[in-house]
Order: sequence, then C-alpha cells, then structure tokens
Amino acid sequence: MGTVLVTGANKGIGFASAKLFLNNGYNVILAGRSEERLIAAKEKLNNAVEYVVWDVSDIHQAPIALAQAHKFYGNIDTIVNNAGIVSDEDITGSDFLDKTEEAWDKTMNTNLKGLFFAIQAEAKYMIQHNISGHIVNVCSEVSYRVAYNAYRASKWGALGLTKGLGRRLARDHIILNGVAPGETATEIFRVEEGLPVKINSPRGERAMPSEIAEAIFFLANSKNIIGEVLISDGGRSLH
Ligand SMILES: NC(=O)c1ccc[n+]([C@@H]2O[C@H](COP(=O)([O-])OP(=O)(O)OC[C@H]3O[C@@H](n4cnc5c(N)ncnc54)[C@H](OP(=O)(O)O)[C@@H]3O)[C@@H](O)[C@H]2O)c1
Repeated sequence: MGTVLVTGANKGIGFASAKLFLNNGYNVILAGRSEERLIAAKEKLNNAVEYVVWDVSDIHQAPIALAQAHKFYGNIDTIVNNAGIVSDEDITGSDFLDKTEEAWDKTMNTNLKGLFFAIQAEAKYMIQHNISGHIVNVCSEVSYRVAYNAYRASKWGALGLTKGLGRRLARDHIILNGVAPGETATEIFRVEEGLPVKINSPRGERAMPSEIAEAIFFLANSKNIIGEVLISDGGRSLH
C-alpha cells in the first residue's frame, strides 16, 4: 500500500482513520498540534506509526511538516485533512448577536484558512515529488445546512474548496474529495469519545469515529470520484 498522513490524528475521526489505514498496510504518519498527545496516540497504535507536530492554524508550518514527514517513508501519497475545532460559543448554540470575533478567527484559522493552505502545501509537495496522490478533506453534514455561526461557515468553505480544488488539482494527478460526517461520537462535543448517543436521525444514534474512517478510506482509493463530498450521517440529511 502507500503512505498516509492524517492531520488532527491524536483522537476522534483522525485517530480512527490512522488506525484503519495502518490495519490496511499503509505507512502512517500522525500529525497534530501537541507532541505529548501525538506520542500517546502513537503508543495506542503499538508505536507502529510516526508523527509530526503540525498546528494547521499556523499556515507556515504546513510545508515544514510535510518535509519532515517525507523523511520517514519517502513519498506520501495520501493525506487526510481532518483537523478541526468547534468553539465553546458554537457548541452551546449561543445566539448570532452574541458571537465574538475571537471565536470566529480561531475557528476560521483552523477549519478554513488552515485547510486552504494545507491543501496548497500538499499540492506543491505532491507535484514536486511527482506523486499521483489522494487528498480527503473532512467537511461536515452541516456543510449542506444553513450557516449561522463560524463553524458552519467554515464547513461551507470546506465543501466549496473540496469541489473547486478537486477540479483544479485533477490536472496535477491529485484526486481530492471530502467526507461530510453527521454527528459522530467524539470529544468535539465535549463528551467522552465513543459514547453511544441517541439522535434524531433515521439511524437514531451518533456514528462511531471508525465508521467515518471507512468513508475516508474509500475516497482515498477512488480514481473516478473527484471533488465529491460524501455524506455519512445515518440518513439525517434526508428530508
Ligand atoms: N464529531 C462530529 O460530529 C463531526 C461532524 C462533522 C464533522 N466533524 C469534523 O471531523 C473532524 C475531526 O473532528 P472529531 O469529531 O474527530 O473531533 P476531535 O475528537 O475533537 O478531534 C479533532 C482533532 O483535530 C485536532 N486539531 C484541532 N485543532 C488543530 C490544529 N490547529 N492543528 C492540528 N490539529 C488540530 C485535535 O487535536 P487536539 O487534541 O490537539 O485538540 C484533534 O486531534 C473535524 O474537522 C470536525 O469538524 C466532526
């Protein structure tokens, strides 16, 4: 198989994806903003992976992290842009009139600006090394819903970039797609990861991170699907 780098890989959907790629024979590189948390994640994977420190909200780290990551196994042909945050004010559902610039900037710098420049650095890296690669962006089911806060606006952006850059990068032999998870049992909700929670959807419960990883893995091996954002939400967006 190939070599995959996953951003935001120390827990949640990113960790589950790293594990799935590892179990399928890939060389795996975890990327994240805390070395301590990356080391803990690496240990949970029996130290069978490598890691690089990469805070995606600092766009200057992207090319440096990719160059460091390249040293482990050579060409990285698959990259999962998974790192993302939701601010406290968006999680609690505070009203639009109370939203703050601080939360907007933090969210956008990670989820949208960070994503845009991560993809730019990844594309330059793949072109420089003559890699026909795959990139998968973790968007959201809310990418398809009305946006009234920074998180939702950032995920609309992620959807748009996946489609627009999916088209742009195909000519450089880079296949870019996205996954749109619905509610998934991770700490992004400020609860314990993996906790089964009933929700109002046809399936009736939150997805497990490993189930979202399956969609990411599928798209990381597609040849003819380009610029697609695949919904995995237990049917919640069906009206
Ligand atoms: N869970 C859901 O219901 C759901 C639904 C739709 C979309 N998503 C998306 O799925 C992705 C993964 O989230 P999750 O649900 O797995 O949540 P999670 O368990 O909170 O994981 C988020 C990951 O992103 C990392 N991260 C945050 N900011 C970062 C930064 N600036 N640089 C590098 N890494 C950073 C976190 O690292 P730290 O541990 O250092 O904070 C963590 O590893 C996100 O893009 C999220 O928006 C989740």
